[in-house]
Amino acid sequence: MKIKDIQLKIILDSRGNPTLEAEFFPETPTDADLTRTNAENSQSSSVLSRSSSVVSSVPAGKSKGSYEAAVLEPELAMEKFGQIKKSILEKDFKDQKEFDYFLISLDGTPTKKNLGGNLILVLSMCFARLFARHNNLELHDYLRSLLSTFNFQLSTQSFPHPIFNVINGGAHAKSSLDFQEFQIIPQSEDFAIGLSLGEEFYKKLQRILEDKFGKDKVLLGDEAGFSCPFSSNEEALEVMYELIEKNKYPLRIGLDTAATQFFKENKYQVGGSGYSSEQIFDYYKSIINRYNIISLEDPFSEDSFDDFAHLEKEMGGAVLVITDDLTVTNKERLKKSIETKSGNTILIKLTQIGTVSETLEVAALAYENNWKTIVSHRSGETLDDFIADLAVGIGAWGIKAGAPAKPERMAKYNRLLEIWQSQLKV
Ligand code: PGA
Ligand code: ZN
Repeated sequence: MKIKDIQLKIILDSRGNPTLEAEFFPETPTDADLTRTNAENSQSSSVLSRSSSVVSSVPAGKSKGSYEAAVLEPELAMEKFGQIKKSILEKDFKDQKEFDYFLISLDGTPTKKNLGGNLILVLSMCFARLFARHNNLELHDYLRSLLSTFNFQLSTQSFPHPIFNVINGGAHAKSSLDFQEFQIIPQSEDFAIGLSLGEEFYKKLQRILEDKFGKDKVLLGDEAGFSCPFSSNEEALEVMYELIEKNKYPLRIGLDTAATQFFKENKYQVGGSGYSSEQIFDYYKSIINRYNIISLEDPFSEDSFDDFAHLEKEMGGAVLVITDDLTVTNKERLKKSIETKSGNTILIKLTQIGTVSETLEVAALAYENNWKTIVSHRSGETLDDFIADLAVGIGAWGIKAGAPAKPERMAKYNRLLEIWQSQLKV
């Protein structure tokens, strides 16, 4: 596939920070294409849609892992793009891998620091959208087909569980909560039911928090979860747990503690005290049992393979031990985590590695080793809903897209709902 033109521009993300948006314009179909497509498909709309452009944009993280792909300032990324645009437009790419590895070779560094992971990714995502359309495929079907290029065939048809981040702390809020994300996860396999449960819980939680702290103290964090003056992590967990119990909601609590953020001078700084890794381990065990917690993401700092392995050994049968900063959607770091049994579920973020192909390769590696995957947004998001298709496409166990509020988060949940409904019709 040849690309006729690419426009790159700077937009603002949900935090008001500049980020990149790309638009790919396909080669206009030739008369021969039109005749062939018309013969194949009497609805000429597919021809029309094939000749229109596609758009993608990239989000940005705040509690980033040190081993993530490099991010360039958007202004500089625009300049770099100016230097490579011609070479991209000249080429006829046979598939996603060829496109992505062409950019990887133009960059020439392991961390993508030359062109920037954000620039490479926005181009890679746009290519995926255009190539899917070129082949008359839904994006999620196209992404699923790419898994097989990494010798992995998905056999299950499961739909991702939405993971709603309803209370925000850590780097994502102004409150003093040490843990970053307090999530609820519907236990229903029906996505539409799960989404409405999330919305109902979120609205009830808002009323409870406003009664407890006063309206003016209930703010929103970066991921649209509530940010309030809780005195401890347990106080936040208690409010959520009570609400679930009282209404008998089929919901479980998940946590992303994002522990790298509060690991200072060899101690985990929680609630004003310094915990050793053994102490924080015991603390996690007690809250997992008390609040019936289903998942724990980044409970230890980003190089603590042994501590993750310890938790996986003791609690992995009952809890999803999720690696984010530990693995950063990186094949080599996932390999090490698999070898050392440091977890059972990998968080998948396109931005951490910087291309669609490498992301799919990591997902395939996870599955081959019986790990689960959870696809995730970033705290600074755009309206792009690519990750909804990615989560469905790779058969992820879950998707983290924040609280069920604000357009950047709802874009993902609404796209999931659309896919869910279209699958019901089949
Ligand atoms: P980030 O946080 O996007 O700010 O890195 C998300 C996460 O830690 O999962
Ligand atoms: Zn995380």
